[in-house]
Amino acid sequence: MKRETLPSWLSLLLTTQFFLPCKNHPLSSRSECNLFCIECEAPPDAFCYHCHLDHHSNHHVIQIRRSSYHDVIKVSELENIFDISDVQTYVINSAKVVFLNERPQMRTCGPLSSSSYNCETCGRALLNEFRFCSLGCNLTGIEKDMKTPSDVANGSEYKRIEDVASGNSSDSNTRSEKEIYNENNEEEPPAKRVARHRRKGIPQRAPFF
Ligand SMILES: *[C@@H]1O[C@H](CO)[C@@H](O)[C@H](O)[C@H]1NC(C)=O
Ligand SMILES: *[C@@H]1O[C@H](CO)[C@@H](O)[C@H](O)[C@H]1NC(C)=O
Ligand SMILES: *[C@@H]1O[C@H](CO)[C@@H](O)[C@H](O)[C@H]1NC(C)=O
Ligand SMILES: [Zn+2]
Ligand SMILES: [Zn+2]
Ligand SMILES: [Zn+2]
Repeated sequence: MKRETLPSWLSLLLTTQFFLPCKNHPLSSRSECNLFCIECEAPPDAFCYHCHLDHHSNHHVIQIRRSSYHDVIKVSELENIFDISDVQTYVINSAKVVFLNERPQMRTCGPLSSSSYNCETCGRALLNEFRFCSLGCNLTGIEKDMKTPSDVANGSEYKRIEDVASGNSSDSNTRSEKEIYNENNEEEPPAKRVARHRRKGIPQRAPFF
């Protein structure tokens, strides 16, 4: 089976600022930069309709749309490029879209927040059974997936040794899991600590008496 690899431009797409006015076409209409070329080797920033005609006319270009000030992209523009089946889709103006990035979450006190599905990365309540709220959270989720198994094994191993060394082995697992995401697993094995505690042994006495 073919292993699916995500295109290298995906993270660039997610960090690009869209909908700024085009510097090359300040006086034209349709000059907001809402297009992105997935073919150019070093893709320029977002560009406008006129830039598209001038420089990317035969390229595969995708269009970013806006919904309440958030960038979205039509599912139909992405689904043939890579698998977005883990990402929550929304229907906006009768088009199915996904959000590019995580959106700031309001503290809702209403009943809306009681969802059975939550984004695995940011915790946002989802409407249906998806794993991520946005492409950005999906990408973050992959990075975690790749890190987790070995780091947790290693991390908790170190923790256990450390806790034993300091004479207590409770709550090692919950702690280690949290810390692993923050630190880059750079804890050093606490071997030095243990060595100092060796008992002095039998007090030395004069060999003869
Ligand atoms: C979403 O995440 C899954 C699992 O982590 C991964 O296999 C898939 O390629 C990701 N898709 C995108 C579009 O990031
Ligand atoms: C733990 O980390 C070491 C290197 O730091 C690595 O060689 C080893 O494979 C890791 N162990 C596990 C279980 O991932
Ligand atoms: C270990 O921690 C528990 C509580 O977390 C405590 O009750 C116990 O006395 C501790 N043992 C040692 C040897 O420090
Ligand atoms: Zn332009
Ligand atoms: Zn191009
Ligand atoms: Zn999310």
